[in-house]
Amino acid sequence: MPKRVAVIGAGPSGLAVLRAFESARRAGAEVPEVVCFEKQSNWGGLWNYTWRTGLDEFGEPVHGSMYRYLWSNGPKECLEFADYSFEEHFGRPIPSYPPRAVLHHYIAGRVEKSGVRSYIRFLTPVRSVVWSEERQTFSVTVKDLAKDLHYTEEFDDVVVANGHFSVPNVPYFPGIESFLGRVMHAHDFRAADEFAGKNMLMIGSSYSAEDIATQCHKYGAASVTFSYRTKPMGFEWPESFEEKPLLERLVGKTAHFIDGTTKQVDAIVLCTGYQHAFPFLPDDLRLKTNNRLYPLGLYKGVVWEGNPHLFYIGMQDQYYTFNMFDAQAWYARDVILGRIALPPAAEREADIKAWRAREEALQNPFEGIDFQTDYVRDLLAATDYPFLDVDKVAELFKEWEHHKVEGILTYRNRAYPSVLTGNLAPVHHTPWMDALDDSLETFLAIKEAAE
Ligand SMILES: Cc1cc2nc3c(=O)[nH]c(=O)nc-3n(C[C@H](O)[C@H](O)[C@H](O)COP(=O)(O)OP(=O)(O)OC[C@H]3O[C@@H](n4cnc5c(N)ncnc54)[C@H](O)[C@@H]3O)c2cc1C
Ligand SMILES: NC(=O)c1ccc[n+]([C@@H]2O[C@H](COP(=O)([O-])OP(=O)(O)OC[C@H]3O[C@@H](n4cnc5c(N)ncnc54)[C@H](OP(=O)(O)O)[C@@H]3O)[C@@H](O)[C@H]2O)c1
Repeated sequence: MPKRVAVIGAGPSGLAVLRAFESARRAGAEVPEVVCFEKQSNWGGLWNYTWRTGLDEFGEPVHGSMYRYLWSNGPKECLEFADYSFEEHFGRPIPSYPPRAVLHHYIAGRVEKSGVRSYIRFLTPVRSVVWSEERQTFSVTVKDLAKDLHYTEEFDDVVVANGHFSVPNVPYFPGIESFLGRVMHAHDFRAADEFAGKNMLMIGSSYSAEDIATQCHKYGAASVTFSYRTKPMGFEWPESFEEKPLLERLVGKTAHFIDGTTKQVDAIVLCTGYQHAFPFLPDDLRLKTNNRLYPLGLYKGVVWEGNPHLFYIGMQDQYYTFNMFDAQAWYARDVILGRIALPPAAEREADIKAWRAREEALQNPFEGIDFQTDYVRDLLAATDYPFLDVDKVAELFKEWEHHKVEGILTYRNRAYPSVLTGNLAPVHHTPWMDALDDSLETFLAIKEAAE
């Protein structure tokens, strides 16, 4: 019997695993049967936009956390797949900060070309994964949503790739239940137009707070107040923005902050992050972590310490995204294929501890970028994933950080060179603040092409 591998999720991480096995198969290797279970009706994970919030048409929790008008918040040159450049996909260089639909097109293009769609069972959420010590296999129980039926199959290895920016972390603030306006978590935010003319309160001081606030500003919000728990973001914000310490309570429409100041607000968006959630896993197989660069329990950030037949992809906090998922996928594939022999448990544990100690000493985002660069480099060295110049990627990430400080509303107007082709991206035809139409067609009609 050939080995069987289950992949949970067909987002960028799960697709990377399918692509990794397919590239080995096409190179002549004997590969296991791979089955990918995906609860949505299409691939792309978070990039597969949905207007829905709450529960979907089957009563399943909606996975999507992306919103209309979402543009990449980092240069595309930092996430480019080493085996599939943007130029190859679009036939020409395109600007550096694409909107969501363009990135979804790129992710889908690679897997479309490699013909892995047939390995995916769509509309099939995984309900449980149980390890049998006796059989040395996992029983994976799933639900076929279209047929309204559950079934169970056996697998030798399981790869968990269900993402970790989908189940919201929702803190409580006294008075929020009687707040006289709209309250939502970033997970449920969809269209900024709704907030034109409104005074917005964003709780949190990370990417969602920053980006949802600038979106709302772009589409006409009257003002934005951020409330931070640890420290302010400190960008040069537009005049109608301010950063305040933590919200203490709400009375009617008045927000009271812990420094004694107040602000009248119309709507609150809790940009308070997400929980790593694996409702289909028992405690001994379940990763428990907050959003950080080096979660414990995973050798090389991928192989589950308690059972080396279980793998996790994409569970780290992310500077690197698509190409890091590839590096992890190729690594997991090679462990499964027996090309990489895992060291004894004590050595694996020591390796995890060493990375974690280094992570805990990080002082700023620049050190965080270097850390994740070294992590990706370490993984790449172990497999035949095509060459990726991570030092160049790290330089781009650092430039991006500087560009954000220079202009939080203008950084997306910048252009960077591809680390694969060396070609500089064209400057987008419209500054981001004026680009209200984020469709693929409008974005790709770049001036150079028209001329
Ligand atoms: C609002 C937002 C904006 C972002 N913007 C960017 C950006 O600009 N650039 C960037 O590089 N990254 C961005 N990210 C980061 C994002 O995490 C990655 O780009 C990427 O989507 C992660 O891929 P993934 O496959 O690990 O997870 P996901 O994209 O979350 O995909 C996981 C998949 O697993 C499926 N799934 C979940 N549970 C089950 C189950 N039980 N059974 C079967 N299938 C299941 C889901 O339906 C989904 O298709 C953003 C994240 C968020 C939340
Ligand atoms: N493409 C885009 O434009 C875009 C837009 C949005 C998000 N994203 C991506 O989405 C991912 C998630 O970003 P995120 O900002 O949602 O999550 P995050 O980076 O994990 O940040 C969570 C934030 O919530 C705060 N927080 C948590 N609990 C809180 C509490 N009880 N009270 C107050 N504040 C609390 C944290 O504050 P502390 O600092 O105090 O812990 C932190 O600022 C990132 O990878 C990001 O790149 C991308």
